[in-house]
Amino acid sequence: LREQGIERINQADTQKKLDEIRVELIGRKGQLTEILHSMKDVAPENRPKVGQQVNQLRDLFQSSFDDAKEKLVQALIAKRLEEEKIDVTLPGRQAHLGSKHPMYVILDDLERFFIGMGYKVVQGPEIETDHYCFEMMNLPKDHPARDMQATFYIDDENLLRTQTSGDQARVLEKHDFLKGPLKMVGPGKVYRRDDDDATHSHQFMQMEGLVVDKNVTMSDLKGTLELIAKHEFGQDRKTRLRPSYFPFTEPSVEMDVSCFNCDGKGCPICKYTGWIEVLGAGMVHPNVLENAGIDSTVYGGFAFGLGIDRFAILKYGVSDIRDFYTNDVRFLEQFRKEE
Ligand code: PHE
Repeated sequence: LREQGIERINQADTQKKLDEIRVELIGRKGQLTEILHSMKDVAPENRPKVGQQVNQLRDLFQSSFDDAKEKLVQALIAKRLEEEKIDVTLPGRQAHLGSKHPMYVILDDLERFFIGMGYKVVQGPEIETDHYCFEMMNLPKDHPARDMQATFYIDDENLLRTQTSGDQARVLEKHDFLKGPLKMVGPGKVYRRDDDDATHSHQFMQMEGLVVDKNVTMSDLKGTLELIAKHEFGQDRKTRLRPSYFPFTEPSVEMDVSCFNCDGKGCPICKYTGWIEVLGAGMVHPNVLENAGIDSTVYGGFAFGLGIDRFAILKYGVSDIRDFYTNDVRFLEQFRKEE
């Protein structure tokens, strides 16, 4: 039993086999235990001797098991080390650096521009409430102008915001005019139901702007829009204001800049008009101020909504608006130099 047992222990090549052999030899129902149980058949005078032998054998097996187990563990570690060996002489692989999305190249630049003029930057929720997106903005339920923006409703009260204008209401409600005028911009993504093609997208970027104080006039608005256009598109870009309609501004305007691509001569990007609409704006409607608890006979202001996608199209000559959200690295990598 001794020779056979030792040999089997030494031949076991996995922990599992080793454990099986251990159970067979010295387990509670193992061969040695059986010998101990059959002591009654041994002549009484021989019992101490046999018992001693059995115990010795058990100790021997136990230490053989321990040795064999240690060997297996060592072998395993050695194998692991061999497999995970690192060849330090291999040439290094260049880590691939990402680049800033073109939309954020423009947004970050604009934020810096506005911060420099004393605006603060706010961030409203993309899942907006009907209350802030529309009702507070002078667009009660059933107002026909709601049709201007095909809305993704989530339920009666929640929707994917169609405009960043809800940011205006949120900020107006909280602003303390004793601490100074309100000047803010609110950049972010907006959503509208639309059939996507090269020039239409169900998601795009806006940057909301709002200035409210005593004695704010339309010429403040014109001056600000002019500054924005010059900053964004260059000092010699021409601009024009067209009368327009938004429920939350009165009067309302839209600003066009001369087409960056064809310099006003006409091309597919400007639909052969020579002009591209880049923003809507106007003087804040008294109802919007009153809705937020502000006395519209004392305070007034202007607001604007910049179409960041339009800015990007003009600036980079992008011909398919979908490139902005499909995240094709071949498209995105072209803007590395812009950061
Ligand atoms: N929210 C308007 C739009 O999405 C843009 C706008 C903002 C117009 C602020 C006027 C003032 O079309």
